[in-house]
Amino acid sequence: MLIAIDGPAGAGKSTVARAVAAALGFTYLDSGAMYRCVALAELRGHPDPLGAAIGLGERITLEGEDVSTAIRAPEVSERASEVAARPEVREALVAMQRELIASGDYVAEGRDIGTVVAPGAELKVFLTASPQERAHRRAVQIGADAGQVLREQTVRDARDATREHSPLAAAPDAVEVDTTGRTREEVVAHIVALAGER
Ligand code: DC
Repeated sequence: MLIAIDGPAGAGKSTVARAVAAALGFTYLDSGAMYRCVALAELRGHPDPLGAAIGLGERITLEGEDVSTAIRAPEVSERASEVAARPEVREALVAMQRELIASGDYVAEGRDIGTVVAPGAELKVFLTASPQERAHRRAVQIGADAGQVLREQTVRDARDATREHSPLAAAPDAVEVDTTGRTREEVVAHIVALAGER
């Protein structure tokens, strides 16, 4: 079974997807971390960023180095958004994601999982939250100023929503879940219940 969790940055995708995977005994796939790793490899001048070895697990690794924290830096977010707009990058990472997902039960997180990577996913959830709440959560996560995060987020949102390849959009058959003002436990229980109905 595949549960696809899409939605904009800061909607709570990672926290919720991880918790849903744990609750159901599924494997969690963070597709955004893959784009972030390619971006970090580029920023570091890696000769072949798309060919760099990415490790997805408890910790995210790049060429064997733990980059779980490094890939969350603002400049990596910025570059990841640019990298994710390139067709050759999307093609390569989508192929890797499809291969992984085919190997078992997954909760896969990312903006195009339910639309492009796995349109046949049994359950598609589009998580949302108000822009202010999303910026606040990201600011707390990375220890930055919420106003600054909100400004950067607005620019990234616009680019992600209007890019030519896989723009950010909910799959037509996705269930929209607004996490604004709801606890993680409430949201997770809601999604686990939805999964049980499929
Ligand atoms: O979800 P995130 O912030 O970690 O994603 C990092 C960047 O990669 C962000 O700009 C969106 C992009 N992305 C994407 O285009 N498709 C995905 N499946 C996952 C992330």
